Amino acid sequence: MSKAQFAELHQRHVKLGEGAMTRVYLAWQDDQQQIAYKVYMCKNGAAEESYWHEIMALEHLESRGFLHAVRLLSYCPTKATISMSYCPDPTLARVIIETGVFSPRHAWGLFLALFRVVDQLHGAGVAHHDLKPENIMYNRLTQRVTLVDFGFATLIQHRLERRCQRAMTPFYAPTEAMDYHEEGHILTHVDWYGMAMTVYACIHGDVAFGAAKTRMELRHLRANAPDKMPPITVDLPIGFALLLRQMLHDSVTYRPTVPILRRKVEKLIVDMGDGTSMMTV
Ligand SMILES: Nc1ncnc2c1ncn2[C@@H]1O[C@H](COP(=O)(O)OP(=O)(O)OP(=O)(O)O)[C@@H](O)[C@H]1O
Ligand SMILES: [Mg+2]
Repeated sequence: MSKAQFAELHQRHVKLGEGAMTRVYLAWQDDQQQIAYKVYMCKNGAAEESYWHEIMALEHLESRGFLHAVRLLSYCPTKATISMSYCPDPTLARVIIETGVFSPRHAWGLFLALFRVVDQLHGAGVAHHDLKPENIMYNRLTQRVTLVDFGFATLIQHRLERRCQRAMTPFYAPTEAMDYHEEGHILTHVDWYGMAMTVYACIHGDVAFGAAKTRMELRHLRANAPDKMPPITVDLPIGFALLLRQMLHDSVTYRPTVPILRRKVEKLIVDMGDGTSMMTV
């Protein structure tokens, strides 16, 4: 995209979101197509790393035909901007604010939709590493999921090259990956934890142990929870509640592996349905 085109976009923007290092705007390209563009405000090493991680992940996903992420349209390194397809659906964070916490039936529909998207994402060779309600756009009627914010993402084949200067949002990160110092603990299982905590937050209106003020306190609360799993205080079907709790176990060795997770989900589909029933009400 040329300088003139970017200047034109900047004149007519609507802010869609804002983070520690970036702002995202809605713009109209050629007066018709709605696009989103993300501007990296900081110029430090962490911002630069995120910028390139995001481009690399989105390009890779496009080449693999993955349909559940925003599409990269163009980027301009000198201006530290990325333009991408605009997603009209709200973030899960906004869905909770506007329509309240999810009923057990809706939560199951969300769980299944996210499970399928995360499984496909990993199948396409990318780990997101920052799954949380602010980074997941969700259409409650159609259960369409669109992932945004790939600034932490890694190509799975590059696992040994990964060096991350930023720490993930601690409440959505498993304890062993909270500071991202332990190289062996990153990659796909971080996404399963972030996904399960996202569903937990949609059911409860907050993450587990959301009152923790520091990382140390959060570690302590998690390690001392009953059976080292967060309590589910809402009346969920028992199999669903147990699976969510197991996915959020404080110790990585007690969380279900992907083949076990798939088997458990298949069994729950038999017991609870395929999650689409709420589309008719
Ligand atoms: N393509 C898009 N279409 C619609 N809204 C978007 C799009 N991309 C981002 N947004 C909105 O902008 C918000 C911020 O975007 P994003 O999560 O990519 O950046 P960020 O959180 O600021 O990044 P960082 O965590 O790197 O600081 C999102 O939570 C979402 O509400
Ligand atoms: Mg974000």
